[in-house]
Amino acid sequence: MRCSPPHLPCTSLVVLFLSVATVCLAADPYVFFDWTVSYLTASPLGTRQQVIGINGQFPGPILNVTTNWNVVVNVKNNLDEPLLLTWNGIQHRKNSWQDGVLGTNCPIPSGWNWTYEFQVKDQIGSFFYFPSTNFQRAAGGYGGIIINNRDIIPVPFLLPDGDVTLFISDWFTKSHKKLRKDVETKIDFGAPDGILMNGFGPFPYSSELASGGFPYGTINVEPGRTYRFRVHNSGIATTLNFRIQNHNLLLVETEGSYTVQQNYTNMDIHVGQSFSFLVTMDQSGSNDYYIVASTRFTKSSSSPKATGVAILHYSSSQGPASGPLPDPPIESDTSFSMNQARSIRLNVSAGAARPNPQGSFKYGEITVTDVYVIVNRPPEKIDGRLRATLNGISYLPPSTPLKLAQQYNISGVYKLDFPKRPMNRHPKVDTSVMNGTYKGFMEIIFQNSDTTVKSYHLDGYAFFVVGMDFGLWTENSRSLYNKGDGVARSTTQVFPGAWTAILVYLDNAGMWNLRIDNLASWYLGQEVYLNVVNPEIDTSENSIPENTIYCGRLSPLQRDQSQRVNFSGSPRSIFATSRGILLALFAILIISLAR
Ligand SMILES: *[C@@H]1O[C@H](CO)[C@@H](O)[C@H](O)[C@H]1NC(C)=O
Ligand SMILES: *[C@@H]1O[C@H](CO)[C@@H](O)[C@H](O)[C@H]1NC(C)=O
Ligand SMILES: *[C@@H]1O[C@H](CO)[C@@H](O)[C@H](O)[C@H]1NC(C)=O
Ligand SMILES: *[C@@H]1O[C@H](CO)[C@@H](O)[C@H](O)[C@H]1NC(C)=O
Ligand SMILES: *[C@@H]1O[C@H](CO)[C@@H](O)[C@H](O)[C@H]1NC(C)=O
Ligand SMILES: *[C@@H]1O[C@H](CO)[C@@H](O)[C@H](O)[C@H]1NC(C)=O
Repeated sequence: MRCSPPHLPCTSLVVLFLSVATVCLAADPYVFFDWTVSYLTASPLGTRQQVIGINGQFPGPILNVTTNWNVVVNVKNNLDEPLLLTWNGIQHRKNSWQDGVLGTNCPIPSGWNWTYEFQVKDQIGSFFYFPSTNFQRAAGGYGGIIINNRDIIPVPFLLPDGDVTLFISDWFTKSHKKLRKDVETKIDFGAPDGILMNGFGPFPYSSELASGGFPYGTINVEPGRTYRFRVHNSGIATTLNFRIQNHNLLLVETEGSYTVQQNYTNMDIHVGQSFSFLVTMDQSGSNDYYIVASTRFTKSSSSPKATGVAILHYSSSQGPASGPLPDPPIESDTSFSMNQARSIRLNVSAGAARPNPQGSFKYGEITVTDVYVIVNRPPEKIDGRLRATLNGISYLPPSTPLKLAQQYNISGVYKLDFPKRPMNRHPKVDTSVMNGTYKGFMEIIFQNSDTTVKSYHLDGYAFFVVGMDFGLWTENSRSLYNKGDGVARSTTQVFPGAWTAILVYLDNAGMWNLRIDNLASWYLGQEVYLNVVNPEIDTSENSIPENTIYCGRLSPLQRDQSQRVNFSGSPRSIFATSRGILLALFAILIISLAR
């Protein structure tokens, strides 16, 4: 239901028509959160270290909302360095101002707070947030996002008896500050020190791991019941294979799309990806079972350090989990993983955020307007520094965010010249942006010329994953595309020496980050922005928020935080604003009476 003409945001209507605004607020509720981001001391692998927590929790609190709700999160940065949280997979329609990456936002200085305000418009599914700068994700700072269906749209499966958010991640005992220093000088910072599950180190299933005696994760379940497991790879570098001993994983959703429901015994989950599985507790339940996440496609895959283990504890259980860990896929069988990825398809008949079926957008029949072939290469020295490139360009984040430079017509911050193909020239460091055509239909082929799996992520959109294969992409590769039920998501893997093709409808105006989610690649410059502007109607984007933080060439506009006035936009502050207006009128009255 729409409560305002599409070109007018709800809040500007408030001032004009109070009654309309009331309807609007009733239709799309606001939820408020106050989060403090700070270091905690934890020892997930037995070594004391600083991790980033939110309100004292690691992983952070789950943002549990429903389609179209307005989310207001006041984030206080109690770290000793600047912070931005980004909302992986949240589309921020018309509103890249809230995306929380350096191309759209100035980082929140240490000791300051900043309030994000965004609507989870036309979305459902499982996502997560994390700190987007300074390599901070290596220290945690992440948490789950759940967007529930509105009551009027049925979920395409029986309502589960419980909902479990599970973060799996590679983990290093080195601090994120040490790791980012290492990345600047060394290509490879080595194998992870362990795999965490929801911030816990592994259950000591073998003597190599038994030395720790540190806490491990346990998930408590009732026999016979079915649970929805939302599994996120929040790690920084490593693909993980996820499996539960003796239990099937019925895949139902990934990053906001309901999938064709299929059973898997295990699933490769790449960095930045999110999946929902229904797991039925259909085993005898007289003992516990292992939940496993083990590294894939790394030299150290067979090392016990490369395996995360948590415990599935039936309420009826009489004893510990036993037997060998469930088998991983055969490591050398690379086509297993690709075939598994190809088997993940969209359930075209299911409704999701809107009542009409997910398949009603017939992406396979739309004419492509722009084609990009984006090639990533291994890190290399450019002007004496280790950098990594996309199409020969290593992205340099300017001190003035791109979006702010655009808003204030500051020239020379970036160029709209990102090449559509790799160029036959020396690699360079630059701030080059992709020029998207509003409502264009873009085909992007990612070609991975590196030796490890890469996860590409695009902010602001869900794209259709239409094909992937080993070797070099050619025009003929299009004959392999899935034109009917490719899944729509925001993070896709590209295997080494292989390509992945996506299609994306550019209907969301803004400045959107396209990056490799593997943190070292991102840090060394494997990102670019996609600028999507509607040249005709500038209201296809929200206006700049009143609480914008200024930096770089716009620093003179920034007031000190202590002198800042409250921003408007939330119902709370709308009342504050009208009270302000009343007070002002009252003051004018007093002044005129005094004359
Ligand atoms: C999320 O909130 C809904 C109510 O809006 C509730 O039914 C559900 O149990 C919550 N889920 C979690 C995982 O907290
Ligand atoms: C900082 O938090 C205070 C309340 O604690 C709030 O009034 C203010 O708007 C926030 N500042 C920003 C820039 O969001
Ligand atoms: C998935 O496996 C479960 C047993 O764990 C079975 O009951 C169910 O029918 C299977 N579903 C599909 C779609 O294969
Ligand atoms: C697709 O979704 C429909 C609900 O619209 C559901 O009934 C059906 O079981 C789903 N199909 C598969 C194969 O998952
Ligand atoms: C930026 O330029 C556009 C058109 O060139 C103009 O409409 C707009 O007012 C300018 N904005 C600022 C902040 O100067
Ligand atoms: C960007 O694309 C638009 C069409 O969407 C075109 O009008 C404009 O000239 C392009 N800008 C540059 C710098 O290429």
